[in-house]
Amino acid sequence: MRTDQRDPEIRLSDYRVPDYLVRQVDLTFRLAPKTTEVFSRITFYPNPARAKGPADLILNGNGLEIEAVSINGSPLPREALSTGDETLTVAAAHVPQEGFVWEATNTIAPIDNTSLDGLYMSNGMYCTQCEAQGFRKITWFPDRPDVMATYKVRIEGDAPVLLSNGNLVGQGDGWAEWEDPHPKPSYLFALVAGELEAFEDRFTTMEGRDVLLQIWVRPGDLERCEYAMDALKRSMRWDEEVYGREYDLDRFMVVAVDDFNMGAMENKGLNIFNSKYVLASPETATDTDYANIEAIIAHEYFHNWTGNRITCRDWFQLCLKEGLTVYRDQQFSGDMRSHGVKRIEDVIRLRSQQFSEDAGPLAHPVRPEKYIEINNFYTATVYEKGAEIIGMLRGLVGEETWKTALDLYFERHDGEACTIEDWLKVFEDASGRDLSHFGKWYSQAGTPRVRVAEDYQDGTYRLTLSQETRPTPGQPNKEPLVIPVAYGLIGHNGADMESGVLELARAEETFEWTLPEKPRASLMRGFSAPVILEQGLSAAERSFHLAHDVDPFNRWEAGHAHALDLLGRMSQDADVEPEAEYLEALCVVADDPQPDPAFRALALGLPTVQNVISDMAANEMVPDPLAIHEARTRLKKTIAETLGDRPERMYAENAVAGPYTPDATAAGHRALRARCLDFITALDPEAKAAAEQFDAADNMTERVGALTQLVAAGRGEDALARFYEDWRQDRLVMDKWFAVQATATPPEAAVATVERLTGHPDFDWKNPNRLRSLIASFAGGNAAGFHRPDGSGYRLLMDWLIRLDPVNPQTTARLTSLVGNWKIFDGQRQALIRTELERLASLDGLSKDTAEMVGRLLAED
Ligand code: TRP
Ligand code: ZN
Repeated sequence: MRTDQRDPEIRLSDYRVPDYLVRQVDLTFRLAPKTTEVFSRITFYPNPARAKGPADLILNGNGLEIEAVSINGSPLPREALSTGDETLTVAAAHVPQEGFVWEATNTIAPIDNTSLDGLYMSNGMYCTQCEAQGFRKITWFPDRPDVMATYKVRIEGDAPVLLSNGNLVGQGDGWAEWEDPHPKPSYLFALVAGELEAFEDRFTTMEGRDVLLQIWVRPGDLERCEYAMDALKRSMRWDEEVYGREYDLDRFMVVAVDDFNMGAMENKGLNIFNSKYVLASPETATDTDYANIEAIIAHEYFHNWTGNRITCRDWFQLCLKEGLTVYRDQQFSGDMRSHGVKRIEDVIRLRSQQFSEDAGPLAHPVRPEKYIEINNFYTATVYEKGAEIIGMLRGLVGEETWKTALDLYFERHDGEACTIEDWLKVFEDASGRDLSHFGKWYSQAGTPRVRVAEDYQDGTYRLTLSQETRPTPGQPNKEPLVIPVAYGLIGHNGADMESGVLELARAEETFEWTLPEKPRASLMRGFSAPVILEQGLSAAERSFHLAHDVDPFNRWEAGHAHALDLLGRMSQDADVEPEAEYLEALCVVADDPQPDPAFRALALGLPTVQNVISDMAANEMVPDPLAIHEARTRLKKTIAETLGDRPERMYAENAVAGPYTPDATAAGHRALRARCLDFITALDPEAKAAAEQFDAADNMTERVGALTQLVAAGRGEDALARFYEDWRQDRLVMDKWFAVQATATPPEAAVATVERLTGHPDFDWKNPNRLRSLIASFAGGNAAGFHRPDGSGYRLLMDWLIRLDPVNPQTTARLTSLVGNWKIFDGQRQALIRTELERLASLDGLSKDTAEMVGRLLAED
């Protein structure tokens, strides 16, 4: 354990309004890798909402020296200043209480900043990341989102391109000046400088304003910007049409950066992106990459209203902007592609990331009540469950009220820093409904389980629903939540006799209908709430839903739930065989011409080993990853045999003619072909079809799909070598080369393969994409390989986290969640993981980020 003093815990209940607000920020940067000079001039005024009496001025700084600091032009004496944890306090006696100008000069070294937080360098280019608390690494400032100000920024430096937020107001040789007229919190500040080129376009807003659009990339990457630009224009139009939200500056810029801790960042007018989510060409990007680019471009753009114009009062309110913005980007992708398929994909993601988080030591409410390092709370719970709450709210108030409420939200809170209470109040005012009970979704952690009991007598059908949520860390007692249950009651002819939405608000409720026959209840249609449904359906009943349910989500769900259950049983008993009804229903899905190919690809797919692990744990079983992997291989073979010649036929029928296009229809055909190739290869140890596809493919989707099959079949060597020769110069494609080997290598060879690859000259572990492509792909995507009973997988992961922590705490802390579910395994594996976690915990100088995570992981429950 670390021996130094414990890091302070920040609590929501301790929130106080700031004593001083900021009217204007003027920044000058003199850029140099080792010594960048920062001059700041900040106009403060007293907060009218603060308590009476003189107040200290509290600024934040992290790793900054106190160089020259003055108020109203007078240098401050040392005795006026005191420092604390990331704070600099000026005693009230030295602060003019009616308002003043603060000036400071400080020096930072972007080249030495490996944390990728604050001002840093990536491939010779300067860039910033200020959310959540990176601005304090640049200069002294009240670095909290409820302090919003307008900024003027002057950048001096040799780089040919010098960018910051807002509008360009002046430029000359070696300098540029930018002005952002919209008040913003410091976390939205951005600066970029380097040798960059712009892919340009224009957009005319609904009011007829002309906006310059630029995607800034390194020279040579210009040909890979077209899709991102197209996605940007579609996002801008969509937000006007669906939410009435117009863009508000003369230009909108996106910059692609290779070294980035997360996906992208919504800095005002200057979004900064992980290059993985901008650059795409048919030869280098997969269908999934294209879909991610579309979704993330939209997400960051949508933040302009939900996040930037209306921001968060404090970081506990993070879900206010993230949940809503994820909800909006999901809607957008659904509108662009297929709602049914998008919903299934979103639920798969929610369950694999959020449900497992909610089931273990890292569980926390969508609005947490305390944190040590806020960066540790950019989680699936805040983002994905936060979005689910928005979807439930919309369902509860109805379409019309939803629209009124959103208009009211934008009108009432534009330019403000808000809370979840503000958000809910808007809905209460718009609907006239008391939402205090519904609001518990924000404060109560854990995934509710909904149990179903049915009864049919004398023409009356009774449905009894009960709910229960298990304890989570710090929350031993759970209350019932308001759970919207979308349903259909299906008759023997397959048609709905009744449908609608039930509201389960108490621990148990019974609902009644008069019906001519006992229906089949199709519940939680469209996954109407983020809960675990325990309906206890038989194989025959599930097969009925899989073959016939009118709700695409529940149709997929029936097959998926059955496969989970079956794989769990098969992993425990080699004599368990798949039920005939299930196999027949899969044939019905394969033969059904109705649903689009993307849907059929999902419905014919099997849950991942990781999915089965989580599902078994949720049902009080101890999962054995290797046995699950073997069961899955066996089940896939049986399905392939049952499907007969269908996979080959469908593989041929779904070939897309002509050159590659990234649209959803073509991608759906390719997804179904990939599914077929998986079945074909399951019955062919030589993986001939995969080898042919690898040779013939003219696009990365099919190339990497084939490569994955070859590696999984233990026949990847040649293809890997050729792939490497073709793409060794391309960082994003090389990430795939590493990831395929990490995820698809059979379990017995996985640790050795990953270990060998960590010694590869192209394994640049300080680059988060590359590190994740190998280490996270392995630990998160190759469960049977990672959970070797000898603990070698755990050791490998921890060796890299120990190495990374002093370099990049944010990414290290994030990767600890790869063992977030460690307590669901058997005693031996738990002991091995505990040893590794303790090894990390005892590291000298462990970062506050990682210390908080291992502390939570190791806490006694
Ligand atoms: N706000 C960003 C988003 O949702 C994510 C983000 C938060 C982030 N902190 C970050 C991105 C740090 C990169 C680095 O899109
Ligand atoms: Zn976001």
